[in-house]
Formats: sequence, structure tokens, C-alpha cells
Amino acid sequence: MNKPIPSSQEIADGESVRDRIMTRLLERRNEFVSGEDLSAAAGVSRTAVWKHIHVMEQWGFVFDSSPKKGYRMTTVPDLLVGPLLKPRLPQSCVLGRHVVFLPETASTNAVAMELAASGAADGTLVTAWEQTGGRGRRGHAWSSPRGGLWMSLVLQHALPLARAAELTLLASVAVRRAVKDAWGLTADIKWPNDLLIAGRKVCGILAEIRADGESVQHAVLGIGINSAIEADAFPDELAAIATSLQAVAGRSVPNLTLASAILRELEPMYLDLCRGGSGFLAVAEEWRSASITLGRHIAVRTANRTHTGTAVRMDDSGALHLLVDGGETIVIHSGDVLF
Ligand code: BTN
Repeated sequence: MNKPIPSSQEIADGESVRDRIMTRLLERRNEFVSGEDLSAAAGVSRTAVWKHIHVMEQWGFVFDSSPKKGYRMTTVPDLLVGPLLKPRLPQSCVLGRHVVFLPETASTNAVAMELAASGAADGTLVTAWEQTGGRGRRGHAWSSPRGGLWMSLVLQHALPLARAAELTLLASVAVRRAVKDAWGLTADIKWPNDLLIAGRKVCGILAEIRADGESVQHAVLGIGINSAIEADAFPDELAAIATSLQAVAGRSVPNLTLASAILRELEPMYLDLCRGGSGFLAVAEEWRSASITLGRHIAVRTANRTHTGTAVRMDDSGALHLLVDGGETIVIHSGDVLF
């Protein structure tokens, strides 16, 4: 079931063989396409075509097949593969220009970091059906069963390191807009970039950065959304603090709709940041108005200790200013807010 991770050269060369077969079948959906036609479109033998069709069946595609007429695609699953995602994005898009789908992987962030280091193009998107070792912020694990949206973007722009924190803040605003757009749900933002609905977490964002001095060499922006996950599928330790969009809304929305909305929202923000533009400042008001952290009495766990006090503001770099109980205001760059 596991698909080997393609090399960044293969990704740069364009669609994989399987993507070409999928695209051809999608173009002529509900019509029979001969094995000969598919093997010519993909440049592989008919036996290889058959093997790819078999894998697609395992992923939820349904085909009618006839020895004389070939294959007819009758059912298309909600899967974050290139041939289904890319038609929903602008043609000249950077984010999602290449899509690497892995049915099961430890962590899309880990794969994206490897691809980034080996030169994968800016905007390459790694997606998975299921992660077995999902990574959360500050070394936490991230539960990632099927149904959720698990994706990581390879970012190759040499941003100044001082501006890298803006990536996750921008992403939180982009995801919030997309959740509103796709699901009609209004999420709150908990500093720095958790999205919550009715006090329970529905989305987490994790940026991993490789820096060279003061400049980002490459970064990976990982976004995890509890979208189409059954309410009872969360492990006991998460049941009280996490929920899914499906559980809240009582209906489901395809991950393809949500992922494409996120990428469309995020792209102009990312390009603006790359151009040295206003970055987070442009959406800071929106972030602040959605924040459930600012103005509250909270505890913040940092690497060394837990501070309690009132969250007085977030500055333009994304740092939290906490008026510590009985003390002065401290500036926290990274931590977990507990309330
Ligand atoms: C958090 O702790 O809130 C951040 C969670 C980030 C999870 C996403 S899921 C896709 C990507 N791959 C990972 O291993 N982590 C991120």
C-alpha cells in the first residue's frame, strides 16, 4: 500500500505515471478508455497500467473494466492527489504546483523536509491519507487518522529568519478563512496558531525551518485539520480537548474543497511575504479579532517553566506579551497556552 517517496527530480519532471493515468481517466470519466490509450498517455506497458489501476482501486476509485473496452472510472474518492487537487487551483499557482500523495506515512512534514533538502520546487505539497507519526509543536505527537486533512508545503524562498514566524500566523488566518468558506464555521485562534471551535482544537500548524545564518534555507509548513473524523475516533486523552469539523457541523465537506481553499487563501500571503511585503501585518487585525488568548488570564508553558498572567498583546513578529501575575511584562516567542 505504501508508495515510495518520489525523488525531487521525479517531482520536478512533472506528473507521475499514475497521475497521468488518473488524469486521462478523469478527462473521460464515465467513458471506457482502452488499455492501449492509457499506456500511450502514460508511456508505460499495459501491465503497468493495470498495476496502477489496482492501486487506485485500493485508494477508493471504482472502475468498470472490460477486456475489450478497457477501464471506465465511475467513482472518485476525496483524496488529495494532484489530478484532483490541481484543477481546483489557479493555473499559475505556486502552492500545490506539484503534489506528492502518500497513502500512509509517518509524517508529511518529515517527507517534505527531505524533499526540500533535496531541492524540491517551492510550493510542492505533500499529502497523506494517514500519518503514523504525526508531529505536533514542541515535540508533541499529532493524531492523524484517515478522514483528516494532513498536508505539508515545501517552501524554498530565502526569507529572513526574523520573518519566518509569520508563516504559521498567516497560515492560521488562511485556514480560518477556508474553514469559514468551506464549512461555514467560525474558528477562534489560540496563540500562536491553533484553531478552536467551541473551545476544542480542530487545526494545528507546524513550521519546520532550516536556516543558514539569518536566512531561511528552506521551510516546511505543515497543516493538520480534524475535518472528516468521527467524534468517537479521538484517543481518550484528546476527546475533551479536540473535535472535528464534521462533528461540529454535523455534515461533511470534501478535504479537496478545504485544501484548495486553504492554498488559494495562503498563496497571496506567502508571495507577499517573499517579496518583503507587509506579511502578518496585513492580517494582524483579523488574527487579533479571532484571538481567544488576548485579554485573558492564562498560563503559558515554555521550554523551562510555566508563567501565569494576562495576555496583553501580540506584537507584529508574533510574540506574546504576558503581564505576569505580580510582576512585569515578559515577551514569549514560543510556548503552549493552557486554559
Ligand atoms: C500542533 O501541535 O498544533 C501542530 C500540529 C501539526 C500537524 C500537521 S499534520 C500535517 C503535518 N505533518 C506533521 O507531522 N505535522 C503536521
